[in-house]
Amino acid sequence: MGLRKLVAGNWKMNGDMASLAEIDSIARALQMAASVDVAVCPPVTLIKDAANRQPGLAYGAQDCHWDGAGAHTGCLSVAMLREIGATLVIVGHSERRSDNHETSSEVKAKAEAAIAGGLCAIVCVGETEAERDAGNAIDVVSAQLDGSLPDSATPNWLVVAYEPVWAIGTGRTPTGEDVAAMHGAIRKKLVATYGDTGKSIRILYGGSVKPSNAAELMAIPDVDGALVGGASLRAQDFVPIIMAAI
Ligand code: PGA
Repeated sequence: MGLRKLVAGNWKMNGDMASLAEIDSIARALQMAASVDVAVCPPVTLIKDAANRQPGLAYGAQDCHWDGAGAHTGCLSVAMLREIGATLVIVGHSERRSDNHETSSEVKAKAEAAIAGGLCAIVCVGETEAERDAGNAIDVVSAQLDGSLPDSATPNWLVVAYEPVWAIGTGRTPTGEDVAAMHGAIRKKLVATYGDTGKSIRILYGGSVKPSNAAELMAIPDVDGALVGGASLRAQDFVPIIMAAI
């Protein structure tokens, strides 16, 4: 039997107070999907209201700082995120690695701070199109994992998300064989890093997941759920993806 699936929505820099109506619809649908873990990662500005309104859903932030406090203008600590109701945080998303020049060692520091402070860390990795075309996808992702994974972890506190950069927001996805090969390689790396514990750490696929391809992607071995961007913004798209994970 596979691991319990996790479907997480990454709203990125989208959504306002009116979007909380989508959270209501997701929470309603969740009553029929008790066998799946569901999380929404809206902009931080919405987490507290969302958590008060629909406490049955899990909420995540899209980034955190590795320090507990201090002179880091514009940044948010793990404790701050927990205080507003987050239980997860995405770290190392490719948009932060490119827009904000985040390195794998920073991502590792964030993941370790998250886990130490009581947030489950979703560590993102993924190759660019040029890296895949050059035949280096698995090596690139493996190196990102070496640099980004926390020194110790347990299945409740660490999730890995494989998101090929060229599949994010493009409508394109890798073939089933490519996803299976990459997830298999990530699983091997998790077992090499954490021993048997690595068998139970969930590996999400992300990049143009939508209602029409979600079931197929999540049926691939070692795909333990999905990290969904654009299709998580509206319950009418996100809910069928959750149902595909049942
Ligand atoms: P997408 O984004 O589903 O819009 O491709 C995925 C992500 O960046 O997490």
